[in-house]
Amino acid sequence: MTPPVSLTRYLIEEQRAGRINADLRLLIEVVARACKSISIAVGKGALGGVLGDAGSGGRASINIQGEAQKKLDVLSNEILLEANAWGGHLAALASEEMDVSLPISDDYPRGNYLLLFDPLDGSSNIDVNVSVGTIFSVLRCPEGVSEPRDEHFLQPGTAQVAAGYCVYGPSTMLVLTVGNGTHAFTLDREIGSFVLTARGMRIPEETREFAVNMSNQRFWEPPMQAYVGDLLAGKDGPRGKDFNMRWVASMVADVHRILTRGGIFSYPLDSKCAAKGGKLRLMYEANPMAFLVEQAGGAASTGRQRMLEVQPTGLHQRVPVFLGSRQEVEAAVRYHREHDARG
Ligand code: AHG
Ligand code: MN
Ligand code: MN
Repeated sequence: MTPPVSLTRYLIEEQRAGRINADLRLLIEVVARACKSISIAVGKGALGGVLGDAGSGGRASINIQGEAQKKLDVLSNEILLEANAWGGHLAALASEEMDVSLPISDDYPRGNYLLLFDPLDGSSNIDVNVSVGTIFSVLRCPEGVSEPRDEHFLQPGTAQVAAGYCVYGPSTMLVLTVGNGTHAFTLDREIGSFVLTARGMRIPEETREFAVNMSNQRFWEPPMQAYVGDLLAGKDGPRGKDFNMRWVASMVADVHRILTRGGIFSYPLDSKCAAKGGKLRLMYEANPMAFLVEQAGGAASTGRQRMLEVQPTGLHQRVPVFLGSRQEVEAAVRYHREHDARG
């Protein structure tokens, strides 16, 4: 029997192969350790006193997104900040839960990487015991920058050197890419270690499953209306096959299903979120997921542009998202292209 490969061993082998350096290895180990702490907090549920909204005196705590923060959003953010503050591998961090980026304090050495994260994705599911997750993206700090600010994070997704998520479901899994395939590690709770359980994940090119919040249907743009209309028409429609639908409302859980068995995930532009550019955030939701999905043979698009080529203009910028099985993402893009060409 071959011995199990731990995350540590996987990373050391990537380092020996020259694909990552020691600092990036440490960074990923530190993020994984923070995810273990978050997993424990999430797993305690009501017993840990961590459910419900953040804030005090009956006043909700609102983040930069204008969304009410849950206690676990705040706690997960603090766990990631504390874990990454002192290791010397980072120059600065940015988070969904922080208005602006945070340079590493002068008390510690500054490294060459920038880390972005969505500390807890799927907040609406925390109180109902449905899977939530953490998403992260790693960029290089631009050469010669000793005081990193928000503008230094504004690099397209193609510049990511690593990305991943941790899903807190029936089991806790870390899914990671350093640009050499997408790999899944399952947390062995008895020994506290992530163990490689799926090497080189591949998303089936074709699918009969889509994920979208259908309650927004009447707010969508015409090409999205036409695309989903044809999916729903099934065997009798132009697509000639029946489709199934799933929507967890935790991007991490929906993307994890798609990486495992295929499908298309979409959070399109709708008239409610059009002014903001979309619902999901480019830098710490769409881009890391797009990197993971492309590394698994899938595709990711805004509907009009490859996700990883979008030039960011803001840390908390939002974008429409289509990602998953390659042929289905291409089909969704085609509906947009044909609609736009008609003018
Ligand atoms: P977050 O909890 O980090 O703010 O992200 C929630 C996101 C994403 O996880 C999910 O796909 C989407 O919001 C769900 O949106 P709806 O509630 O509109 O379906
Ligand atoms: Mn999120
Ligand atoms: Mn979040």
